[in-house]
Amino acid sequence: MNFETVLAGLPDAVIAVDDALRVVFWNAAAEALTGRSSRRAEGRSLKELLPPDASLTRHLAETVRTGESRGEGETTLLTPDGHTIPVSIVTAPLFDHGGTVGAAVAVLRDISRIRELEAEVRRGETLAAAGRMAVGLAHEIRNPLGAIRGAVQLLARELAPGSRFGEYTQVLIQEVDRVNRIIEQLLDLARPVQLRTGPLNLHQLLERVSLLAAEGALAQGVTIVRRYDPSLPPILGDEDRLVQVFHNLVRNALDAMKGGGRLTLTTRISLSPVFAKMDLGAGQRSMVEVQVTDEGTGIPARVQAKVFDPFFTTKERGLGLGLALCHRILEEHKGAVRIDSVEGRGTTVTCFLPIAR
Ligand SMILES: Nc1ncnc2c1ncn2[C@@H]1O[C@H](COP(=O)(O)OP(=O)(O)OP(=O)(O)O)[C@@H](O)[C@H]1O
Ligand SMILES: [Mg+2]
Repeated sequence: MNFETVLAGLPDAVIAVDDALRVVFWNAAAEALTGRSSRRAEGRSLKELLPPDASLTRHLAETVRTGESRGEGETTLLTPDGHTIPVSIVTAPLFDHGGTVGAAVAVLRDISRIRELEAEVRRGETLAAAGRMAVGLAHEIRNPLGAIRGAVQLLARELAPGSRFGEYTQVLIQEVDRVNRIIEQLLDLARPVQLRTGPLNLHQLLERVSLLAAEGALAQGVTIVRRYDPSLPPILGDEDRLVQVFHNLVRNALDAMKGGGRLTLTTRISLSPVFAKMDLGAGQRSMVEVQVTDEGTGIPARVQAKVFDPFFTTKERGLGLGLALCHRILEEHKGAVRIDSVEGRGTTVTCFLPIAR
């Protein structure tokens, strides 16, 4: 076996340049990572292939100049189609017989999967902490609320029939009940959910959700579009909890499309490099994807990291619990959720769920 075969089989991108920064070697992983074939890359200057300020070019130039290794744990690489990929870079000098630097080699590793999984773990941790706080708080609040409600009911009974204060006691009871409902939702988020899972037809479930949303959608001039994969196998899930998930996502989509538009529900077998297969304890299982796509306001980049945080909301009457709850429920299903959004264009929320098999 020659060394080129070995390098071709490496999952890391290996790029070698001569002392004028012309590419002399570009392995298969480099082709995949950069979106350029080795035939088009080899022989050309790195400065033509990448933006002049690219950190790869900078590190290799320094290595050629100084004869020292350079490295960066996290930087980005810009692909020809405009995507930035997080990568780690290490460079090393290659000396010729006279002991001068004749070339340099760089090894690049795509760390986007690691970053995505890390974000997923962090989200889970924030939720767990918020959940513990919520349980403590809820218990402290529920008792006094119960006492207030009881006292108001007694008060209402003492009032003469037709008294104008009757209205006030009504408002008091209503508002106490509202606070109680908020606490219930919080507890929902915090307590370990007991899933009652079984094989489910995802399309029937989505139709249930669409039916719930149909009237609101019509009133806003939103058309619901279905892109269902007819060969989708049944998934393993808890029907009521998943209705909750998709109901929340559809509501968010409608909230974002006050001026009308299309709300698209898509299902397919997942091909995601990160979430297509999950371990449910008894070996790997394939996942399906459900996407809720809107043509609404989109989410500004600086806000995207926060949307799963409990109580994060940009809405006047929002609680900011919808997405936190969705995340929680999908996590219990051994699934996952991700958001892709472009401000001013719209948002796609992708849910990953295991097939029943
Ligand atoms: N499809 C979407 N388009 C634009 N922004 C969205 C979308 N989905 C979520 N968001 C943003 O994320 C925030 C949090 O969403 P989340 O569903 O958790 O709470 P909420 O909708 O504000 O309140 P609620 O508790 O009633 O769901 C929203 O306030 C909104 O700013
Ligand atoms: Mg919501």
